[in-house]
Amino acid sequence: MQSNGYKIAVLEGDAIGPEIMQQAVRVFDLLSQHRDVRFTLMPAKFGAGAYFDTGKAFPDETKAICDEADAILKGPVGLSYEEAQKIPVAEQPERGAILPLRARYNTYANFRPILLSRDMAHFSPLKPEIIKDGIDILLIRELVGGLYFGAKERGTNKDGLRYVKETLEYDEDQIRAILQVAFEQAQKRKKVLHNIHKSNVLISSVFWNEVLQEVQQDYPQVTVIHLLVDAAATALCLNPGQFDVMVMENMFGDILSDQGGGILGSLGLMPSACIGPEKAYYEPSHGSAPDIAGQNIANPYSMIGSVAMMLEMSFNMTEEAAAVWQSMQGVFEDGYSTADLSSAQRSVEILTTDAFGDRVMAKLDALLS
Ligand code: IPM
Ligand code: MG
Repeated sequence: MQSNGYKIAVLEGDAIGPEIMQQAVRVFDLLSQHRDVRFTLMPAKFGAGAYFDTGKAFPDETKAICDEADAILKGPVGLSYEEAQKIPVAEQPERGAILPLRARYNTYANFRPILLSRDMAHFSPLKPEIIKDGIDILLIRELVGGLYFGAKERGTNKDGLRYVKETLEYDEDQIRAILQVAFEQAQKRKKVLHNIHKSNVLISSVFWNEVLQEVQQDYPQVTVIHLLVDAAATALCLNPGQFDVMVMENMFGDILSDQGGGILGSLGLMPSACIGPEKAYYEPSHGSAPDIAGQNIANPYSMIGSVAMMLEMSFNMTEEAAAVWQSMQGVFEDGYSTADLSSAQRSVEILTTDAFGDRVMAKLDALLS
């Protein structure tokens, strides 16, 4: 890295990926106009499109670009079910691109903010008396272990029946590492950590909780609240205000983070950060929405928000990151909506992808001046 220059691998992905990415990268332009910082964007193929072009969903050339980058910005990947059938199972973009990207950079710590400002609270399907002043939860998901990455096998057993076996595997270092991340965040925020588990059934959770007790010794100011994952799903709907930082293993985090998008009113409001020891990548938590691709109606909030998270977490540009968040929220707080949020009762106008980007950049331009 040069003193004030960063290289960013830009993987725009499939379907709505290019449209929302086009808006997100505008942030880098604006920042270099207003601050002494330069961004070199390095586009690379990734996902189903990459497979059709090169035969690989995560081509070697893309790996080299990601290796060279200071941080990676990744759009959603994937195609409709029918289109995906044209790709061999191992190269379908979830298995052939996303999981290998996570494994390559050991991005074990997945930050998924479930955030709705008070003036965006009307986007939530939850009642105002439940939402109160909005939602501000940081869901931390372990991202490179558990069922996703455990040993897998399928075959025919001795009774002649086809069977499948997928294993949930963690070693203590993996659990300790993600719990440390979660305790650090809890310490910085409200000093309450919800530990989400299933120790009444799974011994992986029993073990997880044992490691938690050890890690907890180093964070005496943090109060830990243990909650079973199924109960957590209910609690997220009935009283999301009780949560601040939540931590959980990979599969639980996949499911509960989508529920997080649900209580916000759309997964389009869910950016995320995937942090490894040396490299991080940033992506929306949602898929590539092939049904609305190319129509200029996708909500780019999660993609632009992923840039905000990159600025803060990879480049330590805290103030600029806050300005990006504020600009995005400001557009919605002005009464606008995007099509995914069309249930919003107070919407003055439903913005296109471009128009949302225009309004965010205008606000950001003013804030950075
Ligand atoms: C997510 C997605 C991915 C996951 C898929 C696309 C592999 O659902 O980031 O939550 O399951 O982790
Ligand atoms: Mg998911």
